[in-house]
Amino acid sequence: MDFEEELEYIKSQKLYRKRETIENKRIFCSNDYLGMSKNKEVIEYVIEKLRKTNTIGATASSLVNGYTKYHKELEFMLSKLKSKEDCIVFPSGYSTNIGLFQALGNEEDAFYSDELNHASIIDGIRLSKASKYIYQHNNINHLFELLKSSRQKHRRAYIVSDSVFSMEGDLTRLKELIDISKEFEAYIVIDEAHATGTIGKGIYDYFGLLPEENIIIMGTLSKAIGSQGGFVCAKRSIVEYIVNKARSYIFSTALGLPMVFASIKALELIEENLDKYKDELKKRTKYMLDIIKEFNFQTKEDFTTPIIPIKVGEEDKALKLRDKLLENGIFIQAIRYPTVPKNKAILRLTASLSYSSEDLEILYEAFKSLKN
Ligand SMILES: Cc1ncc(COP(=O)(O)O)c(C=O)c1O
Repeated sequence: MDFEEELEYIKSQKLYRKRETIENKRIFCSNDYLGMSKNKEVIEYVIEKLRKTNTIGATASSLVNGYTKYHKELEFMLSKLKSKEDCIVFPSGYSTNIGLFQALGNEEDAFYSDELNHASIIDGIRLSKASKYIYQHNNINHLFELLKSSRQKHRRAYIVSDSVFSMEGDLTRLKELIDISKEFEAYIVIDEAHATGTIGKGIYDYFGLLPEENIIIMGTLSKAIGSQGGFVCAKRSIVEYIVNKARSYIFSTALGLPMVFASIKALELIEENLDKYKDELKKRTKYMLDIIKEFNFQTKEDFTTPIIPIKVGEEDKALKLRDKLLENGIFIQAIRYPTVPKNKAILRLTASLSYSSEDLEILYEAFKSLKN
């Protein structure tokens, strides 16, 4: 098959994707949960710092000359937020997971990974030399069975899970993961991309649990923090090991300074307003979830996290719903295979503190007019 034919096939499956600029529509599917990407204080801070440093690009990888005192300051803030000894910042969340799992997994090791983990985790595990075992979503019994039958074959074991799942918006069962990790002498790696700043500092803060030594925390700067980049917080020797082994870190230019500055300021605001943001976001999520339920769409019940999947099913139906809502002035992207399983397409609605009451009225009216 040549490229054109393959593209036709993708179109026939309703899985074709194209890049579109969304103009003059209200966007309700971004990951800018706290509105930090447009926060005036953050923007002012970045401008002021750029004027002082007179530098935009990091100009080289971190291990050449790209690592600055500002990267170090950001890493310090993140270690503090996650109550860990040390931190390493990557140029994106995707490259963080690619580098993290490639670095951690050697031939003798194994990853035990939730089936709904993000694609960047899946790709990072594929790049590693370790064995992998996939457990059913949040199914602790299945994880237990897999560990019981295979743990002894491996040197290091890692239990890997999103802490807030990116499409379903549900939480991992951290307490049980901790218990089981102790029983089987395993590390836990959690991806806090959608947890940092939305449910507080992260998932163990949310559950009132301690940041145990065997927990390695990955996160992104691109969601609630509103800029770009990713990070790993862990005990010092693990961070040192990642610095030495993660190829996506070693062979890529360090995060650009505007993003470093934006992250520093956003983190400062998040630290100051942690509970306020969490409570307001929860209220906002409930309000939006109620709209979805009022118009009889299938969704989730819980409003702890700002991700609201509108469960549609067939890809074609999801695209039609997206287009209809777009005609009504709002944009919520349809999420299809391979991001979610085939025939389980969703519209991924997200709550954000950036929406005005007028935005929310427009959202309501857009769903209401679907009935006509
Ligand atoms: C759970 C999870 N991990 C990692 C990433 C990758 O982060 P980034 O978009 O910053 O590359 C994402 C982004 O969608 C994500 O949802």
